[in-house]
Amino acid sequence: MLRCDIITIFPAFFREAFDHGIIRRARKAGLMEIKAHDLRGWTNDKHHMVDDRPFGGGDGMVLKPEPIFTAVEDLTGATRRDDYNDKLRVVLLSPQGRVLTQSLAEDFAKNAEHLVLICGRYEGVDERVAEALVTDEVSIGDYVLSGGEPAAVVLVDAVVRLLPGALGSETSALNESFSAGLLDCPHYTRPPEFRGMQVPDVLVSGNHGEIARWRREAAIEKTRRNRPDLLSN
Ligand code: 6GU
Repeated sequence: MLRCDIITIFPAFFREAFDHGIIRRARKAGLMEIKAHDLRGWTNDKHHMVDDRPFGGGDGMVLKPEPIFTAVEDLTGATRRDDYNDKLRVVLLSPQGRVLTQSLAEDFAKNAEHLVLICGRYEGVDERVAEALVTDEVSIGDYVLSGGEPAAVVLVDAVVRLLPGALGSETSALNESFSAGLLDCPHYTRPPEFRGMQVPDVLVSGNHGEIARWRREAAIEKTRRNRPDLLSN
């Protein structure tokens, strides 16, 4: 059972996010438990302040350290990273993180029993959170989101489908994009002709050797066209 706690100023953002498809099934099967927590619940002042103006000046507000430290303490029982056990990962979602890859998702799925996801705001999070609490600072790509919440959904989705038993067939996570360093090949279903566009003959030939060869070639061609950077590695 993988426990996942999300710390956010927008808990309602997640209301239905984990209630569909494979994530819903994995939760119902007891493979994963996900809770979104309101950061404001860990404030003490009467205005429930979660952010403040940046030292040194500048635009925007910065998430304060105190509520986040208290939240992580409450959720983990540890007050700093040195006290974590190695099954606990505290992840800060921020554009300054290292980019999420399939291999990082595999690392979480294989090695974590407890994920704490801290959703940053675009303007910033007090750096002492990253210094003292965070094991992994993670971004989902080279573009700017206004907050880490969509990234938390992406991370949970990428991880949950790798948990043993989450997919219908155990092999389907292996046979797809990135696990082989290539994009997935194109897929077709009925009808064999649609608006004048044909399904490649080989796929309806029944020749499984030819089909496997075609799929490998088509995956390479798709990768060359859309992600040539994957081929040079
Ligand atoms: Cl994790 N957060 C924000 N604010 N922007 C991002 C991101 C995360 N990943 C890519 N862009």
